Amino acid sequence: MGKQLIKNIKGLVQAGEQIPSIIRGAQMHSLPIIENAYLLLDDNEVRAYGPMHTLLELKDLEAIEIIDATNCFVLPAFIDSHTHTVFATSREEEFVDRINGLSYEEIAARGGGILNSAKKLEQMSEEALYEASRTRINKMIARGTGAIEIKSGYGLSKEGELKMLRVIKKLQETLPIAIKGTFLGAHAIPSSYSDNREGYIGMLIDELLPHIAENKLAAYIDVFCERNYFSVEEMCQILEAGARFGLKGKVHVNQFSVLGGVPAAISRGAISVDHLEEIDIADINALAKSNCIATLLPGCSHFLSIPFGAANDLIDANAIVALASDFNPGSAPSYDLMHILSLACIKMKMTPQSAINALTINAAAALELQDTHGKIALGRKSPIILTNEIPSLAYLAYAYSENHIQRVFI
Ligand code: NIG
Ligand code: FE
Repeated sequence: MGKQLIKNIKGLVQAGEQIPSIIRGAQMHSLPIIENAYLLLDDNEVRAYGPMHTLLELKDLEAIEIIDATNCFVLPAFIDSHTHTVFATSREEEFVDRINGLSYEEIAARGGGILNSAKKLEQMSEEALYEASRTRINKMIARGTGAIEIKSGYGLSKEGELKMLRVIKKLQETLPIAIKGTFLGAHAIPSSYSDNREGYIGMLIDELLPHIAENKLAAYIDVFCERNYFSVEEMCQILEAGARFGLKGKVHVNQFSVLGGVPAAISRGAISVDHLEEIDIADINALAKSNCIATLLPGCSHFLSIPFGAANDLIDANAIVALASDFNPGSAPSYDLMHILSLACIKMKMTPQSAINALTINAAAALELQDTHGKIALGRKSPIILTNEIPSLAYLAYAYSENHIQRVFI
């Protein structure tokens, strides 16, 4: 690969040595941009950057690939801190059911939803699951995604959950971007335990968790805290068990109802609380006072026609806001973080600056990748996006169905 000089960059975004590793409140509306800039990479490591007039004479020019970025922007790749990328197949039959009037919750009550994905996953070999997931991640990378989290949660049995976590581990070992695994055994109660939820939770805590921790099969633990799924008490029990094994919480809360899961997860040390389509003032105040990251998933709101997260209320209150795709076959079938950027600006009225901070700095922090990802700084090898020619940065969110990615540097 060697040296690459990107020159005449219209705007070099999120590049600097003093950029904080987490951004909250009003600070989220400001985004550092160096105009008419250059960036020098050596085997993808940032060697130098700055305004064009500071670019010194470079020796050995023939050994350098020179890329002219006139009218183009360069940004750190986006980080997807909440995905369900390992799944068997799509579920467009449920999508059609919803068009015909059923709700997500009604479809789930009929055995669709997460249980449908679990059935499909059981029938798929580990190799085929790996291959399908690998193909998806390569498409995510081509769209400018530079690190992802992936959850289990379609196994819902000892063997099924371990199969998913082994696939995630193999993806980590074989793909060029950082991948963090999350144990989401508590995604739904499987039908085999429908009369014995304590038994299922006991199996997760006593049998799966120790094995997962010992074999480093996950970095985080997740629970779908919701009516008809897991109660706040059950979530707390599972988060406390995870903590005993060193797994931090990263939970699904407030997708359809406010149950008190937000303050409960914060007090159990959760690194992030995700979804928050429904929220109340107590939750906003709790997030404003904590370092727990509020991760909003506008792709899910859009696809299920449920409320969008109250991004600006959270930002105004001084909370830390991140954005992610929630990529999964049931509630968010798109992994395109440029589309998430657009939805955040169009539907949640986030400023382009705050949405980009939410997809870079704060999303990296939501995966504890703040020392390597989310910004462009000397000595870092983090993934970088070069855009097509665009008139301004806001155009990325505005022209919502255009491809903006010219090239990614991984
Ligand atoms: O984040 N809400 C829980 N889990 C996923 C959806 C899972 C599915 O429908 O397959 C979500 O929306
Ligand atoms: Fe999710």
